[in-house]
Amino acid sequence: MEDLTPRPGDLEPIETASRDEIASLQLERLNWSLAHAYENSPFYRARFDAAGVNPSDLKSLADLAKFPFTTKQDLRETYPFGMFAVPREKLCRIHASSGTTGKPTVVGYTHKDIDTWATVVARSIRASGGRPGDIVHVAYGYGLFTGGLGAHYGAEKLGCTVVPISGGMTERQVTLMADFKPRIIMVTPSYMLSILDEFHRQGKDPRESSLAVGIFGAEPWTNAMRAEIEHAFDMHAVDIYGLSEVMGPGVANECVETKDGLHIWEDHFYPEIIDPATGAVLPDGEMGELVFTTLTKEGLPMIRYRTRDLTRLLPGTARSMRRIEKITGRSDDMMILRGVNVFPTQIEEQILKCSGLAPHFQIELTRSGRMDNMTVHVECTLVAADEAARAGSARELAHHIKSVVGVSTKIEVHDPGVVARSEGKAKRVVDNRPKE
Ligand code: DLL
Repeated sequence: MEDLTPRPGDLEPIETASRDEIASLQLERLNWSLAHAYENSPFYRARFDAAGVNPSDLKSLADLAKFPFTTKQDLRETYPFGMFAVPREKLCRIHASSGTTGKPTVVGYTHKDIDTWATVVARSIRASGGRPGDIVHVAYGYGLFTGGLGAHYGAEKLGCTVVPISGGMTERQVTLMADFKPRIIMVTPSYMLSILDEFHRQGKDPRESSLAVGIFGAEPWTNAMRAEIEHAFDMHAVDIYGLSEVMGPGVANECVETKDGLHIWEDHFYPEIIDPATGAVLPDGEMGELVFTTLTKEGLPMIRYRTRDLTRLLPGTARSMRRIEKITGRSDDMMILRGVNVFPTQIEEQILKCSGLAPHFQIELTRSGRMDNMTVHVECTLVAADEAARAGSARELAHHIKSVVGVSTKIEVHDPGVVARSEGKAKRVVDNRPKE
């Protein structure tokens, strides 16, 4: 794979600024953001008043802890436009979550917000090894989801040629890749695996494709999956993180030269890690729930937004801005089996250790009596795999999960192609337990 370490002149000055410079910019911007929210959003004014705090109480970055949290519930309760801090006519774009688990959450952007967003996505693509002039194949979904349009505006801003193919129609994705020869692909890691299947189906060697870098995010994925994809395509696989409430993709991104966690673009998004049970702010390095405060956003400022994503803050490396460790999962995705906490990413890691198994999987939860049971549905790599080989793979996987994760699971090894494929975010858990 190519060495994509950037040359010093490639970076924006803030990416290599000192910690002091970053902190003073953050304090200045945080003062602006709190005042903007308080003065222009009746929601925040009521919240701050109820908590007995005023934007003028912020004298240092640590004072942010005095301010109340916001949650997805707040966005639902103020649906659709109740948290905005600018008149609706000043918004040039709306995005929204799918709303499968309740009312959708709606977010809005001013022209300046869209420009900020494009800037951080352009920075993310550059950190991933993208350069002006590259062809970028955007297979994140376009529409109300922030993935497609977020990636699109960032790639254009960097000076790339964008192929806005969106998700789905996998056969055409592979055909157009062969014809247009993109250097960069932006897609969910699970959909990249469907694209890999299609390369094989068309008899094309993925290692011979034009792709040099994949920018994967919107769902948790492991370093084991990175190794799998990098090997399959002979390309760099880099992690991009974000969420619509805070902006969309490009809140944080890995650097291709280190691949050691995601640098948060701290000039626009201020991170905290809290204890999810008590709300107390935890020191850098400790595992907890990621909380963001936007520093420059006009349309929908988010003050101490609880992401429910679990990770920890680490010092900067390839850039001076702090990193988050690759996300283990969301607190909502955590399964508790006989007292043991389990995340789908832990299962993914163990599957990728078994040479007879493909990285497609789904976890099914069922209940017998008072006991919750977990079945892992996974595929063998070879159509020809006989019963004995499958049983061997199942035993191997059950053993790894038991010894590393600490739970007993039932493993069902299926034929290749049986486990549901993703065209966007993969559905890793199917909960078939009776509703309480
Ligand atoms: O998924 C934005 C996005 C699009 C990010 C494309 C990256 C690439 P939402 O649909 O609002 O926004 O979902 C946000 O997805 O809170 C995490 O739980 C999860 N997530 C996003 N990126 C990652 C990642 C977009 N790199 C939610 N690793 C977040 C793990 C991720 N989880």
